[in-house]
Amino acid sequence: MYSGFARFYDVLQGGTPEPFAAWIERRAAELGREVESILELGCGTGAVLDLLPAAWAKVGIDVSPEMLEIARIKGVDADLIEADIRDIALDRRFDVIACVYDTVNHVPVSDWPRVFAVASGHLETDGMFLFDMNTLGHLCGGAGRSETTVAGGSTVTISISDERDDRYDWHVRIEGDHDPIDETIAEYGASLTDVRRMLTEAGFTRVEVSGGRDRPVDDEAPRLFFACRR
Ligand SMILES: C[S@@+](CC[C@H](N)C(=O)[O-])C[C@H]1O[C@@H](n2cnc3c(N)ncnc32)[C@H](O)[C@@H]1O
Repeated sequence: MYSGFARFYDVLQGGTPEPFAAWIERRAAELGREVESILELGCGTGAVLDLLPAAWAKVGIDVSPEMLEIARIKGVDADLIEADIRDIALDRRFDVIACVYDTVNHVPVSDWPRVFAVASGHLETDGMFLFDMNTLGHLCGGAGRSETTVAGGSTVTISISDERDDRYDWHVRIEGDHDPIDETIAEYGASLTDVRRMLTEAGFTRVEVSGGRDRPVDDEAPRLFFACRR
């Protein structure tokens, strides 16, 4: 997962890191004090971390060595750690913890409580955990669809299949002046009710959910954004 795909990732994502970084900065301002640190769970190529204020101490965790290597080559100013976001135990806490661009969907739903426990356990008392997810409705609606785009001289085709039991596989094929690259990325969906319950169990007592500008907050929204405090 995110191996051969890694060197195409930034080109393919186009302008997506900017809105995520802007959202993180806007919500972080609600802490009402200077933000000193951020931990990103599933930081990938560091595209979002790179856009956040230079004054913040940044730590990024990702399971893909190839994605982290791109972040290092780009010179992203962050401590980059290869690890699984379900298991990490760093001996420090952060003002903000982010897990964005449906990274949580990459983890089987039965393990989401582990991710939320990691977030809760690494957050300063008044800190904020920010994440987004693809909803069940959005994943289900995308199944069976196939989309081809040309980016950076390569043709990228993404087809989504319904693998049942809340799992949807993204089949990525990249063709260009290289051997074709095929990768399958699994995404898992959970209902908003279940996610709220898991967050409460992880100790988040104040959870705000948004569907984005003027969009409803339900399982049919394309994406839901969570701002969580203990
Ligand atoms: C859609 S990308 C998002 C990357 C980055 N947050 C961004 O916005 O560009 C998802 C990332 O999550 C990472 N990932 C997926 N499952 C993970 C896990 N269990 N532990 C750590 N990283 C994981 C993948 O390697 C990938 O880099």
